[in-house]
Amino acid sequence: MAYTVPKLTDYSAAALEKAADECVGACAGEAAEVRSEAERKAFRDRWLARKNGILTQINDLWLKGAPKEAKRDVGQTVNELKAKITDLVDGRRNVSDSFEFSDSVSARVAAAVDISLPGIRRPIGAEHPVMRTWREIVSVFQKLGYSVAEGPVVETDYYNFEALNFPPNHPARDTQDTLFIAGQQAKPQRERLLLRTHTSPVQIRTMEKMRPPIRIVIPGTVHRNDPPDASHSPMFHQIEGLAVDTNITFGDLKGTLDHAMKALFGSSVKTHFRPSFFPFTEPSAELYVTCFICGGSGKRGAEPCRPCKQTGWIEVLGCGMVDPNVFEFVKDNGYDPQKVSGFAFGMGVDRLALLKYGVDDIQLFFQGDVRFLQQFG
Ligand code: PHE
Repeated sequence: MAYTVPKLTDYSAAALEKAADECVGACAGEAAEVRSEAERKAFRDRWLARKNGILTQINDLWLKGAPKEAKRDVGQTVNELKAKITDLVDGRRNVSDSFEFSDSVSARVAAAVDISLPGIRRPIGAEHPVMRTWREIVSVFQKLGYSVAEGPVVETDYYNFEALNFPPNHPARDTQDTLFIAGQQAKPQRERLLLRTHTSPVQIRTMEKMRPPIRIVIPGTVHRNDPPDASHSPMFHQIEGLAVDTNITFGDLKGTLDHAMKALFGSSVKTHFRPSFFPFTEPSAELYVTCFICGGSGKRGAEPCRPCKQTGWIEVLGCGMVDPNVFEFVKDNGYDPQKVSGFAFGMGVDRLALLKYGVDDIQLFFQGDVRFLQQFG
């Protein structure tokens, strides 16, 4: 039953106290039931509204109706009552902001958030050794004035082979272990899609867009149909280089790469060029550096040096002078083979990262095991 203000007949101290206690008890009971902002307002109005709120009624019924000699006591009781009721109503106002949370939910949240506990530590990542090597190589060439070019991973036969002087059906294509996109037979061969087997197609794409002179490095992923093992991965990374200008000579190629190898592996490294073959360079060479594990001795203490197979030399890249046949494909953009010459090189980033960081299995680079990667943090 909702509380209504009783008329007082007995104005004794005991009767006054009892009436006041009942009133406060009723108000406290109602305060505990308040569950929403709308209920809180209704509760406040019921008790405090100036016009017909319960306190106003008490003032009228109890104080005004009291006999003269009781007025002082009644006044004091009513004043105390006012203070208590106002406290009860205000007490609800402080929590009204969080009415959406029931009291029990608020209590559980307060218990779950222990602000004295240490925070959650975010582990600091480590740069992947392949990406670190990639960045180091690129920056060595950027300091020599090279800019960075990129190209698509899904490439056409034209850019991956034909414009690089691999004629159709030429046996040199077999050395690339190409992964072809299925269902391309209806297209002319040069338009068929494949996963680029090297970054060299970006040589052509860049020369189509930029007139000579150019100095570019081309980092990127490449794919070959190699079963994964400790030194092979069907996906790996290469960095290509291309310099074209008037009067570029093999001496420029040697000087540039000798400087780059010293910058990458230390100034005591020696370089060594051996004749090789690539369809798009003539002459072509493989570049070897003195083994930076054994310093060129072929031995590690009494043990044979494994990375250089005891030879003291490590092959790091393929290179050569751009074949005039390649320039023929981009002749219209200023690459007249009579007027310009250039050199190109291409290196395997993963292989260099293996050697640099003494990792003996390339698969570790691609398994994403945080424990492996943490070693490089
Ligand atoms: N594209 C060659 C390869 O992947 C490397 C290379 C690049 C050789 C440029 C010569 C010049 O094996």
